[in-house]
Amino acid sequence: MKNYIQADEWKIIEEGFKPELNKISESIFSLGNGRMGQRANFEEAYSGDTLQGNYVAGVYYPDKTRVGWWKNGYPEYFAKVINAANWIGIDVMIGGEQFDLAKCEVSSFRRELNMKEGYLKRTFRAKTTGGVEVEGEALRFCSIADDETGAIKYTITPVNYSGPLTLTPYVDGDVVNKDSNYDEKFWDEVEKENWTDGGYVQMRTKKTGFEVATGQRFTVSHGGEVKCVEREKYVGTSVELNAVEGQPITLIKYAANISSQNYPADALSEVLKTTLKTIGEKGFDQMLAEQAAAWEQKWRHNDIIIEGDVAAQQGIRFNIFQLNQTYTGEDDRLNIGPKGFTGEKYGGSTYWDTEAYCVPFYLATAEQKVTRNLLLYRYKQLGKAIENAQLLGFKDGAALYPMVTMDGTESHNEWEITFEEVHRNGAIAYAIFNYVRYTGDAQYLADYGLEVLIAIARFWSQRVNWSDERQQYVMLGVTGPNEYENNVNNNWYTNTIACWCMQYAMEVAEQVKAENPQKYQALVDKVHFDDGNETAKFREIIGKMYFPYNEKLDVFMQQDGYMDKEQILVKDLPAAERPLNQKWSWDRILRSCFIKQADVLQGLYFFEDQYDIHTIRRNYDFYEPRTVHESSLSPCVHAVIAAKLGDEARAYEFYLRTSRLDLDDYNNDTEDGCHITSMAGTWMAVVQGFGGMRVKDGKLSFNPFLPVQWQSFSFHIGFRGTLLNIKVGKEGVQIRNLSGKEITVSIYGKDQLVDANNELMVEA
Ligand code: BGC
Repeated sequence: MKNYIQADEWKIIEEGFKPELNKISESIFSLGNGRMGQRANFEEAYSGDTLQGNYVAGVYYPDKTRVGWWKNGYPEYFAKVINAANWIGIDVMIGGEQFDLAKCEVSSFRRELNMKEGYLKRTFRAKTTGGVEVEGEALRFCSIADDETGAIKYTITPVNYSGPLTLTPYVDGDVVNKDSNYDEKFWDEVEKENWTDGGYVQMRTKKTGFEVATGQRFTVSHGGEVKCVEREKYVGTSVELNAVEGQPITLIKYAANISSQNYPADALSEVLKTTLKTIGEKGFDQMLAEQAAAWEQKWRHNDIIIEGDVAAQQGIRFNIFQLNQTYTGEDDRLNIGPKGFTGEKYGGSTYWDTEAYCVPFYLATAEQKVTRNLLLYRYKQLGKAIENAQLLGFKDGAALYPMVTMDGTESHNEWEITFEEVHRNGAIAYAIFNYVRYTGDAQYLADYGLEVLIAIARFWSQRVNWSDERQQYVMLGVTGPNEYENNVNNNWYTNTIACWCMQYAMEVAEQVKAENPQKYQALVDKVHFDDGNETAKFREIIGKMYFPYNEKLDVFMQQDGYMDKEQILVKDLPAAERPLNQKWSWDRILRSCFIKQADVLQGLYFFEDQYDIHTIRRNYDFYEPRTVHESSLSPCVHAVIAAKLGDEARAYEFYLRTSRLDLDDYNNDTEDGCHITSMAGTWMAVVQGFGGMRVKDGKLSFNPFLPVQWQSFSFHIGFRGTLLNIKVGKEGVQIRNLSGKEITVSIYGKDQLVDANNELMVEA
C-alpha cells in the first residue's frame, strides 16, 4: 500500500519526483476517451522505469498461445489490446544533451490529473548533467468531444541557459507489447509522410489487418530551422531554435488516430489530414474548452459528492472518471477491459466483469443506449459463442461465451478457467435481466435477448449430468467465481445461476410469445427451438438440481467437499503470508479454505429477493471471514451485502478497500494498470450499499444510511427518462428531480411522489 497521492476533491496530485513509483503513476494518471487512451508517459525521452502504452480501442492482435502443456480445445490465440503508435513524443535537446528526467537532478515535479476538465498537467524543474536548468510544463488530453483526437501544450523554459535547443515532436509506431508471448512486434508499416509541421505513420496489425493512421501537426512559439527525421515506422520534425534564458518556448501538438474500424483503409490518410487540419485550426484552447464542457456534461449525470471526507471524495471521483474514460457506449464493437487504457495486463477487453459489475453503473449514469450497446456486443458474438461451445463438444445451438475476448473468440488459455469457469455465461443472461428490469425495454428481449438466453439455457442443460447415485442433476468440473478453487463439483453459485438462466429463458420465451408472436415464431424457426421438449428438459433439471448445503451450519456449501478443508479464518492468517497469491504455492491455495472473491455471496447478491435476510446473514457470516478479497471485484459485493444486513461499519470498510484501490496501490499491482472494472464496484458500494438502491417492479427504491465518517453524500441516478439527485445527510434523505417528468420512488419502504423539477425531503 502506498500513500503518496495528495488529497483533493477534483484532482489527483503527485508532488515530488518519485522514479520508483513512476509506473504506478503512469497507470493512475492515464487518459482516455473511450476510443483511445494512454498511460501517463512523459513526452520527452525517459530512460527510467516506465511502461509505454498507447491504445486504440478494439484494435488487437491474436498472440499465439504459449502454454506448458497443450490441451485440446485451447484457443490458439490470446487476443491482446496492443500498444499502438506513440503520438505524445517530443524529444528535447538542450546544451548538447538529450533532456531526460532520469538523468537530471530534479528539484521540483508535479503531476496533476484534472478530473473535472479531463486533462493531465505535469510541471518540473530539473538540471541536466551539463548543468542546464530548465522548467517545463506539459498539458495534454484525449478529447472526449472528438474521440479520434488529442492535444498537448508543451512549454520549456531554460532557466540559466541561452543557446541551441532542439524540439522534435514525433509519432513512433515502432512499439512493443511487454506481454508479447514471442517478443514479436505486432505492427507493420504501411506508409508514412513527413511535413515541416507534422506527419503521420500508417500501421497495420499483423494477422488481424487493422490499420491505424496516427499523425501529428504542431506549432512552435519561436521560429527555427526545421528538418524532417524519418526511420522505419517513425516520423518526426526537428526544430532547432535559439533559446534565450528565461524565455518560455511552447510547442503545441495536435494528434489523431484514425482507424480502419471506422473508415476504409485507403481513406485513412486523407481523413487523418483533414482531422489534423480541423483541430489545428480550432486551436488548443478551444479544444480544451470543449473537453471541459464535455466533462461537465458527464459529471452532471454521474457525480457523487461526499462531504466530510476528501480522500473518499477523491476516490469515488477517480473511479467514475476512469470508467468514463474507458467506455462511452458510442460503439457496440467496444467493451470495457479490466485495465481499460491504463496497461496491457489481462489482454482481451471483455470479461464477465462487464456484465456482473459494470452494467449497473452505466445503467444509472449514462443513456440507455450505452448499456444496450454492451448487450449488443454479446448478441453480435453469439455465433462465435456457439462455435466456442461446439469446440468443447456442446451441440444444438448451445452457447458458451468466452472467458476473455476481443471479437467473440475465446482468448483465455488456462484449462481450469477457459473450460471450467463457465459461470460467466450466467452473468451475460443476468445483464439482460438487469437491463430490462432497469429500463423496461421489453422489446430488447424480442429483438435480441431471447436468442441469447435460449443459447445459454441450452448450454446449461447440456453441461449438467444426471447422477444415478444422488438421483439429482449435478455439475462437475467447474471453477466458480472464487478462482482459488479449481475443477470442483457442484459449485453452488454455478448450479444456482444455471437454473436461474433456464428459468429466465423460459419466462422470457413465454413473454415474447404472448407479446410478439410473430417475432417469437421467427426466432423459433431461426434457432430451431423445440419449445415443448426443450423447456420440459429445462424444467426437469431445475426441479431436480442438486445444491450443496450443510445442514449443521445451515449454509449453502460453496462446492462439494468444502467442509473437508481445514477451517481457518483469515483473521488468523499471519499478515506476512498475505496476499496468498504472492506468498503461497498455488497448490497450497487450492487446498485451503480461503476464498478469493465473492462466490456463494455473489449468488446471494444477484438473487437476494429469493432468500430471506437470515439466510443471507448466515452465509455472509460464514463465508466473509474465509474470504481474502484478493480479487479487486470482491469488496464491493461484500459492501452491498454488509449494508443490507445493517453492518454499516463493515460496509464502509469494504468500500474503502475498493475506492482507493489504485490511488493507494492497495494490492501492489497498480503499475500494471488500474482496476477499471472494479471501479464500477466502488460505485455499487456507494449507490447500492450506502444508498440501498434497488429496482423492483419498475420502481426505484432507496434504503440509505450515512456512514458516520461523512457529513453527507449524494449521487445522480438516471431512470426511465428522469434524472434524480439523492442526497443522504444527517437530517434525512433529499430527492431532487432534475427532469421534467414526475416519478414515484420508494424511500425506506414508503412511496414518495417527486414532481418534475421539484424536490422532496424524507426526514431521518
Ligand atoms: C477475477 C475474475 C475477473 C478477472 C478480470 C480475476 O482476478 O478472479 O473474476 O474476471 O480477474 O478482472
